[in-house]
Amino acid sequence: MPHALNDIAQRLLAPGKGILAADESMGTCDKRFDKYGIQKTPEMRRQWRELLFSTPEIEKGLSGVILFDETIRQKTKDGVPFAKFLAARGILPGIKVDQKTEPLPDSFQEEVTKGLDGLSTRLSEYAKLGAKFTKWRAVIRIGDKLPTKQCLHENAKRMAEYAGESQIAGLVPIIEPEVLLHGTHSLLRSEKVLTETLSAVFQEIQKAKVALSGLILKSSMALPGNESGEKASAKQIAEATLHAFFSAVPSEVPGIVFLSGGQTPEEATVRLNEIVKMAKEQNAPWRITFSYSRALQDPVLKAWHGDEKNVQAAREIFKERVEETAKASEGRYTD
Ligand code: 13P
Repeated sequence: MPHALNDIAQRLLAPGKGILAADESMGTCDKRFDKYGIQKTPEMRRQWRELLFSTPEIEKGLSGVILFDETIRQKTKDGVPFAKFLAARGILPGIKVDQKTEPLPDSFQEEVTKGLDGLSTRLSEYAKLGAKFTKWRAVIRIGDKLPTKQCLHENAKRMAEYAGESQIAGLVPIIEPEVLLHGTHSLLRSEKVLTETLSAVFQEIQKAKVALSGLILKSSMALPGNESGEKASAKQIAEATLHAFFSAVPSEVPGIVFLSGGQTPEEATVRLNEIVKMAKEQNAPWRITFSYSRALQDPVLKAWHGDEKNVQAAREIFKERVEETAKASEGRYTD
């Protein structure tokens, strides 16, 4: 089993490629549609995903796409299930399996991710629907006294339990402890919280005997808070991020993919490029690439506006976004 899992992980981490996160819940997708007055219906969400998945040549830069429960059950206008459609293009379909968050006991400000109830049943159904990998996201907030140890521990414990179950189902887990960009914290503090978060996660992962070679870490970059007023260069961000990874991520983990977390597409691309270049110089043991949602999709959604006549133009933009980001995943991006 670990071999088969490692094989899937290696395919997801293929050189010059990354992962598209298209696993926004219906609510999140609708919020993005709202911005452009796009109708919030299952059919419009289906058309949006079809626009993305059928863009020519994206398989050159995408190894996988993460889907949401609604999307893995939807089909192209020609009646091909999306998971099958992507697989036929050489793109591995994956699925988000966490189910929102609940308040951390005795805390008003922190949350813990839900989704362990009935998980193994859902995993075997998703495997039958064609999924090859899964994703679980936890949210870590930086604040005056945050995150608490309890928040880090409880989220890490649940994440490790999920990862074990996913591996048993033959699906590669992508563990995503997202340290939020929101706040007034410095780059240094972000690096410290990222290190603590990842240490807590891998402590629980190892306790639960999850195979490190058969999982992928999805991480935030270390970044100054969006209300800090601190300006950090791509080089400083790369240094801080890699410092956290070298302190906390075991070398047996085959790869680390980034979320974009509210950075602009340009920031997310330039910084990824810098991190990858620096990781090579420092002989980092992991393959590093992207698993972006907003940084890949935002300009495309804006161009589409829910209007059939804009599909072609939107696809052009998506193709270009994938190409640029894929270049950055090899440290070859020039703006
Ligand atoms: P962003 O790239 O928009 O942060 O989304 C990535 C993701 O998968 C969040 O769960």
